[in-house]
Order: sequence, then structure tokens, then C-alpha cells
Amino acid sequence: MALSFEGKVVLVTGSGGGLGREYALAFAERGASVVVNDLGADIKGGGKSSAAADKVVEEIRAKGGKAVANYDSVEDGEKVIQTALDAFGRIDIVVNNAGILRDRSFARTSDLDWDLIHRVHLRGSFFVTRAAWNHMKKQKFGRIVMTASAAGIYGNFGQANYSAAKLGMLGLSNTLAIEGRNYNIHCNTIAPVAGSRLTETVMSPDLLASLKPEYIAPMVLWLCHEQCQENGALFEAGAGWIGKLRWERSLGSVVRQKNQPMTPEAVRDQWDKICDFTDATKPASVQESLQSIVSLLAPLESDGEVGANPTAAAAAAASASGVNPAQAVGQKLPPSTFVFTPTQCILYALGVGMSTKDPDHLRFLYEGHEDFGCLPTFGVICSQAAMMDGGLSAIPGLNIDFTRVLHGEQYLELYKPLPTSGTLTSEASVADVLDKGSGVVILLDVNTFSGDELICFNQFSVFVVGAGGFGGRRTSEKAKAPLPPPKRAPDVVVIDSTTRDQAALYRLSGDWNPLHIDPSFAAMGGFQTPILHGLCSFGFAARHVLKQFADNDPSRFKAIKVRFVKPVLPGQSLQTEMWKEGNRIHLQCKVKETDAVVLAGAYVDLHGASEASPENLAPQAAALQSELVFAEIGRRIKDSGAELVKKVNAVFAWEITKDGKTAAEWTVDLKSGSGSLQRGPTSGKADVTLTVSDEDFVEVVRGTLNPQKAFFSGKLKVRGNIMLSQKLEVILKDNAKL
Ligand code: NAI
Repeated sequence: MALSFEGKVVLVTGSGGGLGREYALAFAERGASVVVNDLGADIKGGGKSSAAADKVVEEIRAKGGKAVANYDSVEDGEKVIQTALDAFGRIDIVVNNAGILRDRSFARTSDLDWDLIHRVHLRGSFFVTRAAWNHMKKQKFGRIVMTASAAGIYGNFGQANYSAAKLGMLGLSNTLAIEGRNYNIHCNTIAPVAGSRLTETVMSPDLLASLKPEYIAPMVLWLCHEQCQENGALFEAGAGWIGKLRWERSLGSVVRQKNQPMTPEAVRDQWDKICDFTDATKPASVQESLQSIVSLLAPLESDGEVGANPTAAAAAAASASGVNPAQAVGQKLPPSTFVFTPTQCILYALGVGMSTKDPDHLRFLYEGHEDFGCLPTFGVICSQAAMMDGGLSAIPGLNIDFTRVLHGEQYLELYKPLPTSGTLTSEASVADVLDKGSGVVILLDVNTFSGDELICFNQFSVFVVGAGGFGGRRTSEKAKAPLPPPKRAPDVVVIDSTTRDQAALYRLSGDWNPLHIDPSFAAMGGFQTPILHGLCSFGFAARHVLKQFADNDPSRFKAIKVRFVKPVLPGQSLQTEMWKEGNRIHLQCKVKETDAVVLAGAYVDLHGASEASPENLAPQAAALQSELVFAEIGRRIKDSGAELVKKVNAVFAWEITKDGKTAAEWTVDLKSGSGSLQRGPTSGKADVTLTVSDEDFVEVVRGTLNPQKAFFSGKLKVRGNIMLSQKLEVILKDNAKL
């Protein structure tokens, strides 16, 4: 399909002529609204005229396109972007193209020659891009192109000023690509070669004729299209040819020996090896670059007979690997959005082994089924995008090599059955960072919402191999702990086979890691064949429990915890062993063929059968004692709501139960206006939700039941910000007379 830019607003700087003009015309031709910026300067940056930009705008309009002119220098980036906002209300794409030349041999380069070049190219690109950045961030879309030059990449006689500025733009682009990634802002750099007034004096007429500027524009358009996922890359292009560049690094040589001074002579002696590109690597990030250096440290420190110093090595590794829990914990990842239809729910169900062979699987496989629903463990799929798109690597204090990541454990809790379509948003934050010696464990908490309503909570335990030893804590109270199964034979055992294509099918639900499909990638990870996703076995095990103990009813599912111990190969059979302990089903999963435990310490929590059906969730007709308390709370809010809002500043939700079933729900909003009391579930988001029986609630209010005791004995359950429950005193204390 043709690439359209309909609805997109594009700024091309310096588009009054040369390459920029071609870009502007091409964007406009494909439906974009274009800001044609050009100062109308001469080639050395002198003079000023509105004619150049006006002419291109006229050309676009004459062809029925949308364009406005802007005559500011790129150094006035805010003004340039403001023109886009004033004329078209947004800014989607910025092509930093404006440029001048002031060529001089290095010795003759004046301060002005240096400064002017930097001001137009590097500072100009900075000012324009910074002015557009927050708009792009907010709208979660942006495409940026920087224009570098072969002169910067390779150096060129007489262009010291220009080379420096042009490669400065590449550095800027590389970092913007990292900072923008999570907001769908992509930034790439091009080094074009084309006939223009900048090159006409240095190239022959023949060459100029074959290096037409219109041969560059298609690449710029593709890089700026929403379909293009390229980010942080560098391209050379000319005459219709386009190529990509990257860094190559020789394997190099260690020129230091333990407990011996490092000398220039050793460097000289190793020089050939240092410069030998045989088997060169291609590091693509600071992490990849650092990791290979850090990995040399340990052998270097421990080699030789005289006392190694592991602590120093660990400290060096820690500071070099850049793990800093104090900095990382509490950091939020950019929110992610998951849009889905029944197709994704069905695909997931197939991915975790459901089949029409089993008639009671149909409710998860056929959208026309009267009980059509989503498998509860689909809750991980809605949330995983939060961590899949590399957000973790952008967290300060976690400067580690995320190529060596293993999924350690998973916890999922549903607050209501998952919808079968819609848009869910997930907010992820780093709950803790643990030092396991051989690696680091990152606990990532993800809350997933439908609108304001909290749907589910996930805790991903991510194990990063080789980044440990930074002297951090080994355990965390924030971790949802795995639990061992009871010491008796399992109550139920289910054996289920995975297919040869299980991983190929499962990955379509969003985990695209090549480890699960690409044999050469799997081999790099030390596996003979691609392995099944841990979360796929997790889905198998969860649905085994749901079928055996909850009649396949998704509304009975509450939570699941699993520790991933060993990989499963597609085609192997899974043996799920289950133990029922009240509403908790402990489980363990083995590969039947090898008897190896693959999921350990696992359990599923179910809602009691009686709680589940909708009739039982309806408010009870019989009067509840707690009604009186809420009536009194309502009166207090009427009298002094504003004051309570000031003191408490929180939304409380209550679920009052009677005989084990939810009998009433109440929302006390002491956050907005002068407060309010409402019967029914929260329409927005509660800061804390308290579940307690009608009788216990009244006892707590009367003072005959200590709230802490009620909490620890399980009579009072608190979800959300538990600290806020202390503020309940303010509302309840004076009600003790009740
Ligand atoms: P050009 O001179 O035709 O276009 C540059 C435009 O930028 C001019 O219209 C000029 O008025 C405008 N401009 C200069 N200073 C400005 C400022 N402060 N604010 C706003 N506009 C300003 O040159 P060409 O060849 O089209 O170059 C476009 C870009 O491509 C430049 O950044 C150049 O350095 C780069 N480039 C070009 C190569 C080529 O072979 N033509 C080779 C490598 C890089």
C-alpha cells in the first residue's frame, strides 16, 4: 500500500531549496501539512530573504498541497515549531536539514567559521527538536531525521568545523533514539550526497546530474513514516542507492597483567592484535560495549597466584555495570497501551494449548459461544508490553546488558474477569532490585487499567545474568514469594502435550524473542533447539487448575504465582501436579519425558464457588449493621467534608461481606471537592480497598476488634495503599458511639 502522510504535520528546516525543498514537495504530495522553513541565507549563512520559503510553499499549494512558510533561523527553534502549531495544531515529523558551509583548512578556521557552522547545524537541530519533543511525547508519536555528512563520518579536508558539527548531530540522534523509544519517537541520521548549491562547486556537472536531490527524498519519507520502526540508525544515500552504517570493534587485546603495571611497551607489542578486525564484534549500545569490557575484569582479577581481590572486582563490576538500586527502585516505566479484540484472546488460548478436541475449551475459542471469555492468564499478555519494549534499559541505575535476561518468576492477580476486547493501559514501576551474586533480579510491578478501573496486577521477576555482585540485598518484602507444595502425593495430575509448533503459535501473542523460534539464536543461548516460553507453560498449568477445580469459570480465578526452573521444548508433554488446600491450589509442573521440574513453588488462588456467580455478587436484601456506620459517615462528610478532604486526601472503597459473599460496596471519596459517600463500587480508582465482613466491620468501629489484629488474622483485607488505612481513624473514631 502507498505510504500516506495524511493528517501528519511535517517541518523541514532549510527547505527553501536543495534537498529540503525535495523533501517538502514529496511530503506534501503524500498528504502531509508542511512547514517550509528557510532563512533564505546565502551558502555561508549570510543574508536573509523570505523568497526561498515562499516559492516552495507556492509550488506545494499550486499542486493542491498544504504548506506554510517560516523564515526564522533554526536557532529560534521555538518560533519555528510554533508556526506548525499555529497553522496545523500539531507537529509529528521534524527533518533537520538546514545547513551552510564555511570551508577553510584547519589552521585558517576562524572563531566565526567554527561558531556559525555549529550554530546552524548542531545548535539549530537541538533547538528545533527540543521545541517539538514534548508535543511528540504527549501524542506518543514522532519521527526525527538529522542530516549528517560523509565529511563528518570520514573527515574531509577543509571541513573541520563542518565535520565536527555533523558528527555532533549523529551523537545527538543516537541519544534521542534511546530517550524517545518508549514514546514511539524515532530518530535517525542520514548522510546524503546530492547535487545542490552546496556541492556544485566541488562536483563535476555530470556527477551532479546523476546525484539528484529527489533520489534522497524517498528514504527520508520512509524513515518518517509511522510504519517505519528504524530507530537510532545511520544511513548513507545518493544516486538512488541507500546503505546502513554501524560500528565495528576488533576483538582487541588485554594488555594488562594481574599485579603488574600496565606499560606503553605492552600496548606497542599488542598493537597488531588490537587493530585486527578478524572476528570483530558490532556493539550497538553502551551496555553491550561495557559488558564485554566488564566480563574481562573477573578473570583478570582472579588470574595468577597472588591473592585475588574479589571485593574490589565486584565493586568495579558493579560501578562499571551500573546497578544502583537506590536510583532504580520506584522508577516508573512509560505507560503502555494494549488494544485487543476477541482474536487476541482466542490466539492466546490456542497458544497455551487449548483445542476444539476438548468441548469445554470452546468457551475460550469461539467468540460466538454463550460463555465466551478470556483465559485469566491472558492478564500477563496485556501487561507485558510495559517491559517488552526495552523500557527497563532506560531506567537510571539499571545500566546492564539486557540481552542476557531470563524470566525468573511471575505473579498475576485479577481484580475482575478480563474483558474480551478493548484498550487497557499498564503502569509499570521497579519495585525492587536484588543482588543474587550470579545475576540481578528486578521486580517489576505492573498495574493494568481499563479506563480508571484496576483490572489486574502483575509482578515480573526478571533475572539478568552476570549483573550481580554489586553488594545489594538478596531478598525483598515486596516479592510475591513462591510456596512449596504440601508434602503428600498430589490430589490431581494432568498430562498434556505441547505441539512442535507451540512456541511458534504462542509468540504470536506478543513475545517475539527469537530464542523461541530461531535455531541459531537458541544456540547462542546454549540451547539445542528453540525453547518454549515460560509463560506458555504457565498458561498450560493455570488452565489445568481452572478446569480441575473451578469448572473452567474465569470469574473463579484470583491469582497465580510461578517460578520458572527449567525450559520446556516444544513437543514435550507437561505434567501438572495439583494439591488443593482450601481455595489455594498448589502446583508443580514437570516435563513428563524427563521428569524435570519446570515450574516450581507455584499456586493458583481461586474465589470460593459461592462467591463467583453474579447473583451472589448482588447486594443482599437483608439489612446490614454496617449501613448505620456508613449513614453516620455520610452525615460527617456533609457537616465537615472539606476539612476531612484536607486531612485525609484519599478515596476508600469498602467491600462488606456477609456469609462469605459480597453484600455491599461503598465508596468514600475524601479526595475531591468537599467529599462524598456513595453506595456501590468506585467509578474511579480507589487508593485503598478494604474487604471485611459486616460483623467484623462493626466490631472494629466499636473498638471491640483491633484493626491490626483483624488484618493479621485475615478478617480485614486491604488492597492498595495500606498506609492510608491509618487515616481511617479520622473518619471512624468519632463514630465509636455507634
Ligand atoms: P542547500 O544550501 O541547497 O540547502 C540548505 C538550506 O538551508 C538553504 O536553503 C538555506 O537557506 C537554509 N538555511 C541555512 N541556514 C539556515 C538557518 N539558520 N535557518 C534556516 N534555514 C537555513 O544545501 P543542500 O545540499 O540541500 O543541503 C541540505 C543539508 O544536507 C545540509 O544540512 C547539508 O549540510 C547536508 N548535506 C548535503 C550534502 C549534499 O551532497 N548536498 C552532503 C552532505 C550533507
